[in-house]
Amino acid sequence: MAIISRKGSQLVRKHREQKERKKAQHKHWELAGTKLGDIMGIKQTEEKDNNVGEDGKVDYRVDQKFADHMKDKNQASSEFAKKKSILQQRQYLPIFAVREQLLNIIRDNNVVVVVGETGSGKTTQLTQYLSEDGYSNYGMIGCTQPRRVAAMSVAKRVSEEMNVNLGEEVGYAIRFEDCTSEQTVIKYMTDGILLRESLREADLDHYSAVIMDEAHERSLNTDVLFGLLREVGVYTTPTEDYVEGAVKQALQIHLSTIPGDMLIFMPGQEDIEVSCDQIVERLEELENAPQLAVLPIYSQLPSDLQAKIFQKAPDGVRKCIVATNIAETSLTVDGIMFVVDAGYCKLKVFNPRMGMDALQIYPISQANANQRAGRAGRTGPGQCFRLYTQSAYKNEMLTTTVPEIQRTNLANVVLLLKSLGVQDLLQFHFMDPPPEDNMLNSMYQLWILGALDNTGSLTPTGRMMVEFPLDPALSKMLIVSCDMSCSSDVLIIVSMLSVPAIFYRPKGREEESDQMREKFSVPESDHLTYLNVYLQWKNNNYSTIWCNEHFIHAKAMRKVREVRSQLKDIMVQQRMNIVSCGTDWDVIRKCICAAYFHQAAKLKGIGEYVNVRTGMPCHLHPTSSLFGMGYTPDYIVYHELVMTSKEYMQCVTAVDGEWLAELGPMFYSVKQAGKTRQENRRRAKEELSAMEEEMALAQEQLLARKEEQ
Ligand code: CDP
Ligand code: MG
Repeated sequence: MAIISRKGSQLVRKHREQKERKKAQHKHWELAGTKLGDIMGIKQTEEKDNNVGEDGKVDYRVDQKFADHMKDKNQASSEFAKKKSILQQRQYLPIFAVREQLLNIIRDNNVVVVVGETGSGKTTQLTQYLSEDGYSNYGMIGCTQPRRVAAMSVAKRVSEEMNVNLGEEVGYAIRFEDCTSEQTVIKYMTDGILLRESLREADLDHYSAVIMDEAHERSLNTDVLFGLLREVGVYTTPTEDYVEGAVKQALQIHLSTIPGDMLIFMPGQEDIEVSCDQIVERLEELENAPQLAVLPIYSQLPSDLQAKIFQKAPDGVRKCIVATNIAETSLTVDGIMFVVDAGYCKLKVFNPRMGMDALQIYPISQANANQRAGRAGRTGPGQCFRLYTQSAYKNEMLTTTVPEIQRTNLANVVLLLKSLGVQDLLQFHFMDPPPEDNMLNSMYQLWILGALDNTGSLTPTGRMMVEFPLDPALSKMLIVSCDMSCSSDVLIIVSMLSVPAIFYRPKGREEESDQMREKFSVPESDHLTYLNVYLQWKNNNYSTIWCNEHFIHAKAMRKVREVRSQLKDIMVQQRMNIVSCGTDWDVIRKCICAAYFHQAAKLKGIGEYVNVRTGMPCHLHPTSSLFGMGYTPDYIVYHELVMTSKEYMQCVTAVDGEWLAELGPMFYSVKQAGKTRQENRRRAKEELSAMEEEMALAQEQLLARKEEQ
């Protein structure tokens, strides 16, 4: 038995590879979730002809000659080998008869279990089939063996079949012996080797497919690998290639003769771009295909391009709009006859493990699905093509989307309710009460930021934070900046963080825009890079032309300016001092640290960080100023974590380790030589009793107030 695990959406991956930036020699694959897919039986019988069963299952009937050959393998194989060329031998193997079906099944499933008799060709052929089918373009094809001898001998055999030198295109690795090279595309190895590789690189980015051979033996290492390979795709829920599905469906609709425009729902911008490219590309390959106007729409698309979806296409040209759920309710396009629904959307969801919100792809709810279907044929009969099964709709989709209050960070809600005098938030009558964990976590976050005291009451800082329509940490940054005399600079940074995207990276001009962006880079901080952009824009009289020349969203910058002015008004009202620190930007980094110390990461390897509190690995985003600059500070704080194929930190700033200890004493301390454990324990005890005293005092005050009433 061999288990093939193929990773991710081929299309998205291909697309990304094309777009791969020179600077970021970094693969960011969106990994699809794995599932145990179709079980494929290759059965050996005594009958003569090769066949595929009518029920669609593969029924392999092996030739008598082959069965004889199996009886006395050694003798037969040498004779056999004499008679047949190596290519003929390959084609004579039972597995060859099902090559195409196998490849199709592997294309459609992330995990495939292949079962077949010994000698049918699983070990030697599967790797080659995958390589021939183009998988080696996206990484190596790995094949694990429980035994070292097998890894070596099979690699040798396959190198002969492919007529290459062992260790070049085909190689093997066993403990203490690595017979592979830069050219290696097929790698046989012991399962122990792959396991160790996965410790170094958890998502096995180097591989496009992994075959776990002899999986039925359930060796300890193989079993652990099973678990790990499942994890590889844990963060996205799609099990099939929904982009591929949607593209095919769109072409089918278009090539049918029925007129009418089409609307395709995709979760996000990248999926939309890939879908549009693919539809256009595949249509170009067809002869005499009718014209199709392919139009993307998502919120970050410049508004002149957004407007195109409403314009009438020339006579006889069908429109194909590819949209996020922005087109579910917010936008209505008339004349849509067909809807293609991939079944996914992006949602901001609070992740208690990380203590923060993350944007992730989730299956839509039944309500979304119905809403999407309703977009077809609003003014006449229409059709909706759902790329998921009825059973998935009935059994796996929630009736409605989980309300935001139950899935996002509640810090702001807590702050608001506290300021309204609600004491016990856990007893508060929410229409849909959020999970208690989320609530407690948000209160904890506010306590960390100094907005709540040990008794859970609002502090003066907390009271001030309520005034700002910002995330608590951003408000905190503004408040701290006044004491640190850099409030005018931090005000700009906070305003820049309040808009979704500053930099524009148009298709076909990626390199040019990246170069422009680098000009603004402040190597130790993305926050300071933002400040730099704003100050330069200001020096250029807030010019739109300047923005366009520098690949900066002019609309976003105007919004930043507006936000800045509103926040400034609040600061003035609150009698907060607005001063600039001039050119000494270190104090700004310290101020950022004061508000984000709870989101700190520590350097672990080159470009690799781990969260200081949780130890969870997190990565610099390729768009960060710190990425690939050869400058990797020991400690950084980050603005937010975004999960796509990996956990990426977005907007980071280098900080001193000592600042973390000074500003976030509840988490960090500097290891001090000479301090005994007893001393530490004594200090912890003192802190605890101080907290208890504070709580007792608050209780007394509360009682006194009640008596007064
Ligand atoms: O993995 P499975 O048992 O299905 O078959 P395989 O190992 O791929 O063997 C397919 C054919 O390759 C058999 O006819 C073997 O005799 C031959 N083979 C070989 O000549 N030398 C090897 N080291 C391995 C397989
Ligand atoms: Mg085998």
